[in-house]
Amino acid sequence: MAQILIRGGTVVTAEGSSRADVLIEDERVKQVGSALHASDAAVVEASGKLILPGGVDPHTHFDLPMFGTVSSDDHYTGHKAAAFGGTTTVMDFVPQPDTGTLRQGLQAWHAKADGKAAVDFGFHMNITRLAPETLDEIPRLVDEGVTTLKVFTAYNNRMRLPDGDIFQVMRVGGKHGMLTMLHAENGDVIEVLVAEALAAGNTSPEWHAHTRPAWGEVEAALRGIALAAQAQSPLYLVHMNVAGELDQLRFGRARGVPVMGETCPPYLFFTVDDLRREDGAKWICSPPMRTAEDNAALWGGLTDGSMQVVATDHCPFFFDGTRPILYDGRPLAIPGKELGRGDFTKIPNGVPGVGDRMPILWTTGVVQGRITASQFVALTSTNPAKIFGLYPRKGAIEPGSDADIVIWDPERRLTYGVAHAQHRTDYNLYEGWELRGFPEKVYLRGQLIVDGERWLGRAGMGTFLHRQPFAPIL
Ligand code: URP
Ligand code: ZN
Ligand code: ZN
Repeated sequence: MAQILIRGGTVVTAEGSSRADVLIEDERVKQVGSALHASDAAVVEASGKLILPGGVDPHTHFDLPMFGTVSSDDHYTGHKAAAFGGTTTVMDFVPQPDTGTLRQGLQAWHAKADGKAAVDFGFHMNITRLAPETLDEIPRLVDEGVTTLKVFTAYNNRMRLPDGDIFQVMRVGGKHGMLTMLHAENGDVIEVLVAEALAAGNTSPEWHAHTRPAWGEVEAALRGIALAAQAQSPLYLVHMNVAGELDQLRFGRARGVPVMGETCPPYLFFTVDDLRREDGAKWICSPPMRTAEDNAALWGGLTDGSMQVVATDHCPFFFDGTRPILYDGRPLAIPGKELGRGDFTKIPNGVPGVGDRMPILWTTGVVQGRITASQFVALTSTNPAKIFGLYPRKGAIEPGSDADIVIWDPERRLTYGVAHAQHRTDYNLYEGWELRGFPEKVYLRGQLIVDGERWLGRAGMGTFLHRQPFAPIL
């Protein structure tokens, strides 16, 4: 029996903050209270520091084949980057195989992840092709610990489902306590506009945004909410990035539809102007960056609780995959955004962020007075743990919870960027940003995996999380 006593810090939960000691025994939190004593415990002094539950990022894409390459973090390097940024639980999306069963897709993702995982992890299943046997198979995913399904109203001829299929997925999922997650864009309009843009020779990165209009998201979000209402099933809108989409979320919630939503940090800061830069491809992801008004509206949705989660949609690519970086002391290059030089439709979609999420949101949210420390914990840890069927094992610091703990130094100042972020890519969206507040130590189930700059974790120590159905609607 190993005990660790974290002494003298301030424990921050989604409910509030208080000075308290935390006693860890083996993998779990044993006690939280004032002036705790445990004679055999290793003592960690934390005065002046905050004690937070490890972050939960429910939206990552590790080792994902796309556009003839692959997202550049795998289930080890991405987990390691997550941990350095204070995140100890991640959830990745499993592609539905082109042929074969959902179970086969799941097995393929386990084969990629299980031996590499360095933090705890769960999976969501993409439903991108709906045969009758797929509908039969969906409920069986619950037995595999997968309680969430992602559907798309965009990516025509690849991942998009017709509305009737989305309705059926929601209905069968809802009946079995599963949550449907929706990528809301209008695939048909995108298809027309992309063809027109290319025909007119409009090939630069900003056309990625112009060919995916915000109204398509507004309409698709409302469509998803209406389908969920008809299917009597809960819904979660992923990567929300426009004000009008947030209006639809509020509209649905006000009418009692069990709909929730996430945004991702880039949508709080960046705009289509960033796509106009020389290196605009760095900001290409779907849905795209929008306007300053959208940034401000999304902050409003976090402040007033209309949106429940800040996730990342971490899906990194090299900006220039022909030029190796040094990763773990070795040169490494993976084809990336340069594949779309001269044609925005060939730029791999996605941006890095799993390690950035908590430090960036702390400085811009808590330090700059937009959200409280408790809201920060709710948005980055407790709410996703609840929504995705992991609470109170994750997202909490209370007796019996997994001892996933971040000792957060609120006074640490640093100039952030690719040198600090541990992502396996050659750029960072927040290069040169001045941050205040950063993880100092990170524990995964009682094991110290990050100690300042030192990485103490290892591949294979992360465990697959068998998540619970019928999770709460927040
Ligand atoms: O550009 C992005 N977000 N790539 C990942 C796939 C998705 O739709 O989330
Ligand atoms: Zn998506
Ligand atoms: Zn995604």
